Amino acid sequence: MQKVLVTGATGQIGSELTLALRERYGSGNVVAAGHVREPDEALVESGPCCFMDCTEVGTVSETVTKYKVDTIYHLAALLSAAAEKNPQLAWHVNMVGLYNVLEVAREKGCAVFIPSSIGAFGPQTPLDNTPQDTIQRPNTMYGVTKVAGELLCDYYYHRFGIDTRGVRYPGLISYKTPPGGGTTDYAVEIYHEAIRHKKYTCYLREGTYLDMMYMPDAIKAAIELMEADPARLKHRNAFNVTAMSFAPEHVAAEIRKTMPEFVIDFDVDPVRQAIADSWPNKMDDSAAREEWGWQSDYDLASVTKDMLKQVSRKLGIALEGR
Ligand SMILES: NC(=O)c1ccc[n+]([C@@H]2O[C@H](COP(=O)([O-])OP(=O)(O)OC[C@H]3O[C@@H](n4cnc5c(N)ncnc54)[C@H](O)[C@@H]3O)[C@@H](O)[C@H]2O)c1
Repeated sequence: MQKVLVTGATGQIGSELTLALRERYGSGNVVAAGHVREPDEALVESGPCCFMDCTEVGTVSETVTKYKVDTIYHLAALLSAAAEKNPQLAWHVNMVGLYNVLEVAREKGCAVFIPSSIGAFGPQTPLDNTPQDTIQRPNTMYGVTKVAGELLCDYYYHRFGIDTRGVRYPGLISYKTPPGGGTTDYAVEIYHEAIRHKKYTCYLREGTYLDMMYMPDAIKAAIELMEADPARLKHRNAFNVTAMSFAPEHVAAEIRKTMPEFVIDFDVDPVRQAIADSWPNKMDDSAAREEWGWQSDYDLASVTKDMLKQVSRKLGIALEGR
């Protein structure tokens, strides 16, 4: 039975991935390591929780030893918009934190899952059908740390034989935990504002296509990649994975199928727009499909249906019998 540690466990992905891992490998076998945000009831009651600052190698090492961890899902990071606000801290958390985790994994023989991102590409990358192996010259601190992280993980695999694996996640849509300051957060906010005010002002311009994915697919991708037969993996880290590609007006149109009075307008934030413009419109994820059988379950219609239902339940605002 695996002994798993999840860093960044109270974040958007971690709060759901931890519960899914506990269901699969047993509650006591999955340790949730949080940081600033207090773990919620579901996390505390379903298994072991601890505090961890991944930039302090001692706390990473002690936790791995204490719980006899053999697999680390390293999710602690600063996301794209948050990283542009504080690039120095982003470098520290995203690079020093990752380096510490890889070093502890090397010393103690752990496997490591690390999410990269569509932010690892850049303005010179082909924006349509973005290949698995292509030009990566990002112009954001987030992107710089993601490319460096991809390379570092490949290095630890080739040089030290550490079982590192990872995906390039697109924007993730979920309702349980708010997103942590990314460029694709609008695709979560829009559902909350639709339910609350029937109106949303979007900080990205009309026509801004980006890859997206619903959280159940993101969790499935992480677990399936970590369980994949290593003999089939030609790549190790940074697999392109996507489920859908859309622009803000397409989400609005989908919401209007349930809520015809919903309106969207635009007040463009130049920082996040510039980041979005440097990211792919749509990635080619055929390597993930061929090497470990990646396939998404949710499209925009099914995500919208579920998000409206779940967010209205969470906010306690009825969808007026629809
Ligand atoms: N959410 C997305 O849309 C998305 C898309 C692509 C990639 N990713 C990647 O997935 C990973 C997890 O993302 P998320 O959306 O859950 O982010 P999030 O911001 O919701 O969670 C990250 C967590 O890391 C914690 N953290 C910050 N500094 C820390 C430190 N020094 N030590 C330990 N923990 C610290 C934060 O408290 C936070 O809970 C990140 O690597 C991110 O780049 C996310």
